[in-house]
Amino acid sequence: MSVILAVSVAQLVRPFAMPVTISHVVGARPNFMKAAPVIRALAEASGVQQTLVHTGQHYNVNMSDVFFQQLAMPAPDVNLRVGSGTHAQQTAAIISRFEPIVTKMEPSLVMVYGDVNSTIATAMVCAKLGIKVAHVEAGLRSFDRTMPEEINRVLTDQIADLLFTPSEDGNRNLEREGIPQERVHLVGNVMIDTLVRMLPLASLPAIDVPPRYILVTLHRPSNVDDLPWFERLLEILAKLAEHVPVLFPVHPRTARTLESRAGSINGCVRLLEPQPYLQFLALQQHATMVVTDSGGIQEETTYLGVPCLTVRKNTERPVTVDCGTNTVVGYDPKVLADTALRILAGQVKPSSLPPLWDGHAAERIARIVHNTLC
Ligand code: UD1
Repeated sequence: MSVILAVSVAQLVRPFAMPVTISHVVGARPNFMKAAPVIRALAEASGVQQTLVHTGQHYNVNMSDVFFQQLAMPAPDVNLRVGSGTHAQQTAAIISRFEPIVTKMEPSLVMVYGDVNSTIATAMVCAKLGIKVAHVEAGLRSFDRTMPEEINRVLTDQIADLLFTPSEDGNRNLEREGIPQERVHLVGNVMIDTLVRMLPLASLPAIDVPPRYILVTLHRPSNVDDLPWFERLLEILAKLAEHVPVLFPVHPRTARTLESRAGSINGCVRLLEPQPYLQFLALQQHATMVVTDSGGIQEETTYLGVPCLTVRKNTERPVTVDCGTNTVVGYDPKVLADTALRILAGQVKPSSLPPLWDGHAAERIARIVHNTLC
């Protein structure tokens, strides 16, 4: 990534006293919008060289390339091209391919994002090589160890040198786990930084978008790999589609399950390709309600003030429930259907914005990184 982006941020970061190299690691779709603002904010400081490593965990054009284009992210310096596999295969491939790369790069700091397999795999390599690691989106906990992401979160936070939390619950969780408090910094939500910057450019996809609709995304193994439960979910969506159309951009994992089943899908449930960032943002903004099992979408709908129903037992983002528009409906079909129908009838819970979700989290991160490395 030789291009230094010429962007202005509200408060410039001071120059680094001596040249430093910071490597960012991204791998899966939700990483891209988190890394983009941090790269931009750090590019404001002179004396910092940045490199970008893509693990290739996500590799389809519509799961990766289109995000780089729309977010104006520099092309990765290295792509490890690990692709799909079991958790062990994917994590092991990232570890063994990243080690020689980072050894050669000798960065002063490696920044990892979120909770995907690429996050823990590369953090672990750095910890063992004695390279400093910063974890952006630290401290989130669902307290559900059956979620692969929860394992990734807990382990990454244990070995990170700098931990940037999006909300106060993250600080409390890390304190409880014995993480030294001087490593932990409450900075706000970098995903919201990207949303704030990109919202004026958001535009609906070139399809017939109805005035009222429910937007659905489902990709967690607990929803889409459990066929009887997934069938129940499709039934509920079909029922809701009798009231308002359902638009359902389909993740590759979910597409596999849909292909494996025999039955047809109610015509009012419209299956779409995974959407680019700007089109998905516009779809969220104009939706009557969102039904999801994603993490980031719980946050984006809270910022946009759009009701969100999360089809999971728990959330690692409780602030979206306490302050925001999110309701965790669990795996009870009746609760999902009844809550959705209440929202369609106009019964929407009041919501507000969590503190520090103001579009400036990445600038706070850049200042702390500067102070730490200088
Ligand atoms: C991963 C993250 C999850 C995140 C999600 C966002 C982990 C443990 N999980 O889950 O936290 O919410 O990304 O999408 O890191 N596939 C493609 N093309 C791609 C990517 C995936 O076809 O570009 C297919 C493959 O068949 C693959 C499956 O999707 O087996 C799942 O991909 P994988 O990266 O294993 O996990 P996600 O379910 O995407």
